[in-house]
Amino acid sequence: MLYAGIDLGTSSVKLILCDEKGTVLNSVTRDYPLSFPKDGWAEQNPSDWYEQTVLGLEELADGYGSRLGGLSFGGQMHGLVMLDENDRVLRPAILWNDGRSAEECDYLNNTVGRDRLSQWTGNIAFPGFTAPKILWVKRHEPQIFAKCRKIMLPKDYLCCRLSGQFVTEPSDASGTLLYDVKNGRWSPEMLDICGITENMLPTVRRSYENIGTLRKELADSLGAKDVVIAPGAGDNAAAAVGMGVVGPGRCSISVGTSGTVFITSEEFAADGENALHSFAHADGGFHLMGCVLSAAGSNKWWMEEILGSGDYGTEQEKITGLGEGGVIFLPYLMGERSPHNDPDARGVFAGMSMGTSRADMTRAVLEGVAFALRDCVEAARRRGIIINEACLCGGGMKSPLWRKILAAVLRLKLNIPACGEGPAYGAAILAMTAAGEYPSVREAAEKIVKISGSTEVDYELAQKYDNVYKRYRALYQSLAEWFKE
Ligand code: XUL
Repeated sequence: MLYAGIDLGTSSVKLILCDEKGTVLNSVTRDYPLSFPKDGWAEQNPSDWYEQTVLGLEELADGYGSRLGGLSFGGQMHGLVMLDENDRVLRPAILWNDGRSAEECDYLNNTVGRDRLSQWTGNIAFPGFTAPKILWVKRHEPQIFAKCRKIMLPKDYLCCRLSGQFVTEPSDASGTLLYDVKNGRWSPEMLDICGITENMLPTVRRSYENIGTLRKELADSLGAKDVVIAPGAGDNAAAAVGMGVVGPGRCSISVGTSGTVFITSEEFAADGENALHSFAHADGGFHLMGCVLSAAGSNKWWMEEILGSGDYGTEQEKITGLGEGGVIFLPYLMGERSPHNDPDARGVFAGMSMGTSRADMTRAVLEGVAFALRDCVEAARRRGIIINEACLCGGGMKSPLWRKILAAVLRLKLNIPACGEGPAYGAAILAMTAAGEYPSVREAAEKIVKISGSTEVDYELAQKYDNVYKRYRALYQSLAEWFKE
């Protein structure tokens, strides 16, 4: 049989179709708009997700429909989707990189208290998380809050429209701050604080569970029958599965619109510093994760909005002087999550001179994103976690120069998976497991995922970067108060 993996991203939905051995037969990408209604806000229309996914599925399954055995999802995490009593979407979804709920986070972290939040959920509040956004809507849009009957995460909205099932799963539920990650249940305390009831939230099933089939009229339109659906996972957990990062003690790094450092563990463990999130993995285990809000997103902004170029390769060919310092870039275009939890932070170029070239600034962007990820890796190292290598996915993976910079800055050997479609590939593996092709996600990933190459650490360069990283850190520290004001 064939399996579809659907990655509901921030700029587009990516769909892949593969057989049970993981050979990719077809892939489709369909874009949708992203709106920034105010500085630091980010929204999307859930109906765009659904419409583009259905069109994408038709294209994907063209000629393959009768062999389609299952599908599942990887989705942008944390987004708030609110539905009324007739299952109509009440307002645009508020996304993972939206910083509007700073005051609600301040209330949760400082009045309710970080300790209690950690005890109830395993995490503290960040503006990207779902619960602070619910509080924001309750306060600023009470008429919408009053009409709300269902609260969902982005990929769960898609799953609901495709299957009719109101479900989620632990990896994405972890990012709501409504879910007790350790004990695997919705937190009654957090529901109370947000003024919602458990029946407004989806039922939590396993990421790789068979929860039903594709709605008949959709299956008919694809020429398919009984397409098994699994709830899937948040995009980072799905990407980890798609890179074979399952079981304890493994690490994956994603350089997509956001950048993440994802470290697996068998047992639940909270990060005492709260720099890293403590979430469930899609394989039944757990993970710690640091998230930077604008990774490849910063490079896209620099290239397309500022330089007006889509030719990333040519622009990077002119780069020289790696690790020499000079210009430093803070990639905080949407504020920053890990480790600063600072929605007021913004992007900064510092240290230009009359000799600074366009290529120097492009280099600073690539290096700045690597330094932001290093902040997350360092938070893990401070906890005594030893990481020497990681699997890499996301758009950033495609640039050999960026890989070289990342390996040196992070002091990590970076392994490149043969299939670069991390979240979509992971979603397809979850669908295969749900359909019974494999007994567990771990076995499926171990059998299917192949590594095609790796980028080693250039230790001379790494030493130079250790010095520039100190200056990068100092730059944010010196501006933190200014950002606040
Ligand atoms: C993770 C996070 C992002 C989004 C991007 O916590 O917010 O990685 O999932 O899609």
